[in-house]
Amino acid sequence: MKTIAIAGATGAVGRQMLECLKEQKIEGNIKLLASARSAGKEIDGYIVEELNEQSFQGVDYVLGACENDITKMWMPWAQQAGCVVIDNSSAYRLDDNVPLVIPEINAQDIANHHGIIANPNCSTIIALMALHDLNDLYHIENVVCTTFQAVSGAGVKGIRDLERELADEHAQPEAFAYPIAFNVIPQIGGFDEFGITSEEWKMQNEGRKILHSPNLNVNCTCVRVPVWRSHSESILVKTTQPVDLDELKERLSHSKGVVLRDDPKHNIYPMPIDTTNQDDVFVGRLRYDLADPEKKTIGLFCCGDQIRKGAASNAVQILAELIQLEK
Ligand SMILES: NC(=O)c1ccc[n+]([C@@H]2O[C@H](COP(=O)([O-])OP(=O)(O)OC[C@H]3O[C@@H](n4cnc5c(N)ncnc54)[C@H](OP(=O)(O)O)[C@@H]3O)[C@@H](O)[C@H]2O)c1
Repeated sequence: MKTIAIAGATGAVGRQMLECLKEQKIEGNIKLLASARSAGKEIDGYIVEELNEQSFQGVDYVLGACENDITKMWMPWAQQAGCVVIDNSSAYRLDDNVPLVIPEINAQDIANHHGIIANPNCSTIIALMALHDLNDLYHIENVVCTTFQAVSGAGVKGIRDLERELADEHAQPEAFAYPIAFNVIPQIGGFDEFGITSEEWKMQNEGRKILHSPNLNVNCTCVRVPVWRSHSESILVKTTQPVDLDELKERLSHSKGVVLRDDPKHNIYPMPIDTTNQDDVFVGRLRYDLADPEKKTIGLFCCGDQIRKGAASNAVQILAELIQLEK
């Protein structure tokens, strides 16, 4: 039986990965790794071990759920031990030797791995799940997107900020630069010289790689909102071919991993409260931009659980595909 390690097993994504392994019925010996602070903790009957140079001996697959700096520290140890790593951090996503995969879109890229497969950014996964059918049918050239990102997107510390601020209006934020309770913060990541944040660049750079569309343009504004879990995105898309909205809806209604929630007359549309704790991305509010008589510009709204499809379940789906490939 293969051995699967989760690096960062005590975090928001790592804990979810353990559940997803069970849900997706992936069998193996499980090893949970985290910092020395967590060594000895029990999660679901497994004892957490401190991640160190020896941790990956005898391990076949690693699901990575640590921040970039920690991932870069342990990756050489995993590589030396011959593991295949499916990593959630952004440390290796744009490396030419590392496939960046959403299985519903580019599962075929998994076969080109050299020991590391990267899981895309959570907002990128949710947006592309909503957009890849549109891209197949009418070819996307330009995307303008505003995200509404849940506090758990910043991990356990993001959840704690909102919990503490709801309990005590004078609590000082720790994960975010400003209070998040009853607020929205238009900054995720650091700003560059163009006034664009690191999070905002991810959707264009990662989108180009996943869709194999090197000329895709994405203009993104990423906003943190006081929602526990599930990111939402308002997207305006420009295509090269005129869009037939009925055809698009028909396609989306059969798209794996997508649920069409689009019935404005009955106030039916995607909301994060409905996508929390499940894997599908909900898509709705589909409409033409009336300023474009060519019908090449449409608006939509989508939501998805960023800890599940935006991270853990996508990674475990990649693992399932990889295991199939190796059979
Ligand atoms: N949260 C999301 O919605 C989301 C979505 C997509 C991608 N991601 C990415 O997934 C990764 C994990 O995010 P998260 O939100 O789960 O973070 P988190 O809740 O802060 O968890 C971080 C994990 O890293 C471990 N860790 C910290 N220092 C370590 C060390 N020196 N050695 C070994 N393990 C160490 C922590 O262990 P201790 O508990 O022992 O400190 C914990 O298990 C990040 O790269 C993040 O950008 C997150």
